[in-house]
Amino acid sequence: MQDLDRIRAEALAAVAAATTPEQLDAARVAALGKKGTISGLMKNLGAMDPEARKAAGAAMNAVRDEVAAALDGAKAVLDAKALEQRLSRERIDVTLPARPESLGRIHPISQTIEEITAIFAQMGFTVAEGPDIEDDFHNFTALNIPPEHPARQMHDTFYFGERVEGGRHLLRTHTSPVQIRTMLSDKPPIRVLVPGRTYRCDSDMTHTPMFHQVEGLVIDEATNMSHLKGCLIEFVRAFFEVDDVPVRFRPSFFPFTEPSAEVDIGCSREGGELKIGPGAGWLEILGCGMVHPNVLRNCGIDPDRYQGFAFGMGVERVAMLKYGIPDLRTFFDSDLRWLKHYGFVPLDVPTLSGGLTR
Ligand code: DAH
Repeated sequence: MQDLDRIRAEALAAVAAATTPEQLDAARVAALGKKGTISGLMKNLGAMDPEARKAAGAAMNAVRDEVAAALDGAKAVLDAKALEQRLSRERIDVTLPARPESLGRIHPISQTIEEITAIFAQMGFTVAEGPDIEDDFHNFTALNIPPEHPARQMHDTFYFGERVEGGRHLLRTHTSPVQIRTMLSDKPPIRVLVPGRTYRCDSDMTHTPMFHQVEGLVIDEATNMSHLKGCLIEFVRAFFEVDDVPVRFRPSFFPFTEPSAEVDIGCSREGGELKIGPGAGWLEILGCGMVHPNVLRNCGIDPDRYQGFAFGMGVERVAMLKYGIPDLRTFFDSDLRWLKHYGFVPLDVPTLSGGLTR
């Protein structure tokens, strides 16, 4: 028993003295290992008579458990200390400014969509999205473009193969089908902005088979043409960051709006340099109009109670005008030198209060 007390005291002292995982492990092996002091004592039990063995066995088990518990406790303390040391060694100062040059560049398309969205978000629009692969109903028919309508030829549509059930899917030729999807799923008042990819079978200096549009739709009980004009004039001034840019609404035709208009902004071309603002020239930037009653009806909305306006613009086009990018096709070349030149520094998120472009 004296042996047991001594061995207990020694083992606990060794555990308490250990300051590294290696020392702690040595203390464990010395006490509880196969050849350890406590294991050694236990080997003697076999030679004892049953009564003595019972008492000594219980005492040894208690010491073994006590030492094991001390080892566990010491290990937890050492582990916590090691973790703390590692964390303080690896500490990162998250308040340091990032090095933007190592984060790459934001593509002008993404930046432009962010800018447009920021402006309309301020006016209470929410963002809606729809699928790139559409059907005839959403892309054409519900937008008052029935089969055989000449307006279908205006869109050089990419069609998929004939379906077993009949009809063909297509790549949406504009973001306008999302007007239909929104009016079918939401009840007025509606105020949505729809950025997205669009596709037309066309490729030359000024056309790429895939391009981007932003669509807008407002449906309410008292919305009229003056709201359309006010909203788009406000947008144009904020987007181009030119307060006195002239804006002109020119009568036009779209099957899904009546009346329809195209919006032009003023520009000057002095010395061969295009400048947005007051001047002799005009640039067309978007299409718009009051939503056609047939379109409302196709979506189960009563045109006698509700009306609204819609607009659609090409993202590449307004980006080219705003940032002086001369060639449309370069948007999709993935040329790093181009992206370095025309791209935007990340973390510089456009906001109206902070300035859209800095
Ligand atoms: N969807 C038209 C196009 O792709 C653009 C457009 C014009 C959208 C007038 C509209 C609108 O919502 O009202 O050419």
